[in-house]
Amino acid sequence: MRVLGIETSCDETGIAVYDDELGLLSHTLYSQVKLHADYGGVVPELASRDHVRKIVPLIRQALKDANTEMADLDGIAYTKGPGLIGALLVGACVGRSLAFAWDKPAIGVHHMEGHLLAPMLEDDAPEFPFVALLVSGGHSMLVKVDGIGRYEVLGESVDDAAGEAFDKTAKLMGLDYPGGPRLAKLAAKGLPAGYKFPRPMTDRPGLDFSFSGLKTFTANTIAAEPDDEQTRANIARAFEEAVVDTLAIKCRRALKQTGYNRLVIAGGVSANTRLRETLAEMMGSLGGKVFYPRGEFCTDNGAMIAFAGLQRLKAGQHEDLAVKGQPRWPLDTLPPVA
Ligand code: KG4
Ligand code: ZN
Repeated sequence: MRVLGIETSCDETGIAVYDDELGLLSHTLYSQVKLHADYGGVVPELASRDHVRKIVPLIRQALKDANTEMADLDGIAYTKGPGLIGALLVGACVGRSLAFAWDKPAIGVHHMEGHLLAPMLEDDAPEFPFVALLVSGGHSMLVKVDGIGRYEVLGESVDDAAGEAFDKTAKLMGLDYPGGPRLAKLAAKGLPAGYKFPRPMTDRPGLDFSFSGLKTFTANTIAAEPDDEQTRANIARAFEEAVVDTLAIKCRRALKQTGYNRLVIAGGVSANTRLRETLAEMMGSLGGKVFYPRGEFCTDNGAMIAFAGLQRLKAGQHEDLAVKGQPRWPLDTLPPVA
């Protein structure tokens, strides 16, 4: 089975062709980062318009790169939600319309399911069951995963998502959008400076997260300290350590609660080196293993949507003819794939 995947939930137009026998045949990505940089964040209307401009040329490119004609495709998968409604509707309109015109089945994919399954694009793919830590710009959650569509959300952020906390803190530090990777780069130059940053919500039971207080703590620390490059790097490091440590404590708890020994991390923040290293070390000491996607598939991409869509199309699931986007969509309401 061969599927065209379309991702347009936020500020990246990602297109890919995935074949369940041959693997990933092509993927293309256009990032709108430069477009939104002047505004310090994603402007939804500009995002939608840019997806409209880029989507068809990128689909042509991905099909060409995959040496795939319309007749070779067995279905089309597009991100149906969660995300920005205007951006989602561009992918949904194009995906659903192509499927209608080409007489193929279409499937609307849950963006976070795409992230969650992205490590399965790698040679060293995790087997079920596992615990997944999903950390993106819009969501942070811990999920018990017993199969495709068999998800139990164990905990999630009560305020900012982990990526959002990185981005907002980076902005406080005067770093450009998107701040997460820039803050991580600055943190790499930081020295341990004796700051005592909080590890929010780790002093009580439960698997929920809260990151907005850390952002305020960082703002207060910046205001109280000298304004030089090394101090800023030290503060960035202390912030990053606090986020990573908090995530690691919650992962350890979730593994204990489920009795599972495989951990998957996915979503934009899973590209973070300190997070990967910390969790790899922790899983080593627990006698388990951590799995994550290659760097370019941590952040938004079409490959994860093609892969997730293929699993569902293969199980006979598909959309009706209506074009739908779903800006809010709880992950644990998805139907299971037997
Ligand atoms: O999954 P993603 O591409 O988009 C959403 O679905 O939200 O995640 C983007 C988020 C942004 O907040 C970005 O700053 C963060 O992931 N991010 C990072 C790193 N790379 C991306 N955060 C920390 N360290 C990184 N290396
Ligand atoms: Zn995402």
